[in-house]
Amino acid sequence: MRILLFGPPGVGKGTQAQLLFEKYDMVRLSSGDLLREEVSLSSPTGKKVEQFLKKGHLVPDDIMYELVDDFLLENKDRDILFDGFPRNITQARSLEKSLAQLGQTIDIAFEMYLDEDEIIKRLMDRRYCPKCGRIYNSTTNPPKNDGLCDSDRTKLSKRDDDTAEIIKRRLKIYEDETLPLVKYYKSLSVYRRIDAKENRQEVLRQISEAVNGYLNSKCRSN
Ligand code: AP5
Ligand code: MG
Repeated sequence: MRILLFGPPGVGKGTQAQLLFEKYDMVRLSSGDLLREEVSLSSPTGKKVEQFLKKGHLVPDDIMYELVDDFLLENKDRDILFDGFPRNITQARSLEKSLAQLGQTIDIAFEMYLDEDEIIKRLMDRRYCPKCGRIYNSTTNPPKNDGLCDSDRTKLSKRDDDTAEIIKRRLKIYEDETLPLVKYYKSLSVYRRIDAKENRQEVLRQISEAVNGYLNSKCRSN
């Protein structure tokens, strides 16, 4: 099974990816996390992408393909959850091609949607653990101990791109570059729309319902 989550910054993709990963036996490709890890390691790729991340611009497609194709090969026998990839039509076509070479396709593409005021609120209050990547929110999902990760007690951070100016830019880029994926995945008959304004568990329930429906229909047809 290959599932993807797309939606504007702050809609809750990473949060749901974490919950789905815990619920289903899947591996997760979170392109933003992958890129931030390269930056924190100061790898050659990290050095190339750092400025794109800081400014909220998309990283060039060829750099993304390298990271993603390696991941697909390493995990060709696993169910995969994509969070944040693809980000434009060119990436979507490339992903389809790479999967086809492995005899695979995208089974469900979830678009998560939320209004802009709520997005900005969620991002301004977001904190994350730089060690394990766990996502928190100082208002809606605070850690048990003030400022420390529940799982490894690392001091929580704010992402460099969570500033009012960069959030605005990321939202604009989402509208221009990523939103056309709606039409693309509708044309492949794998598109589902998820209302992300509910609490985490309710959003998870909506997504899981669609995933379970897909798995049941696959069982029946086998
Ligand atoms: P990426 O890391 O993917 O950032 P993004 O798409 O901007 O999305 P975010 O991670 O900001 O938000 P999210 O939807 O994951 O929300 P979260 O769950 O954290 O990408 C970063 C950068 O990398 C890009 O700008 C680009 O430069 C580059 N990049 C990445 N992929 C690329 C690609 N394919 N091609 C080129 N460049 C690429 O939740 C947000 C907050 O809300 C948290 O505080 C959370 O606790 C809270 N929250 C979540 N759900 C709920 C809920 N239901 N109710 C209340 N609060 C909630
Ligand atoms: Mg994320």
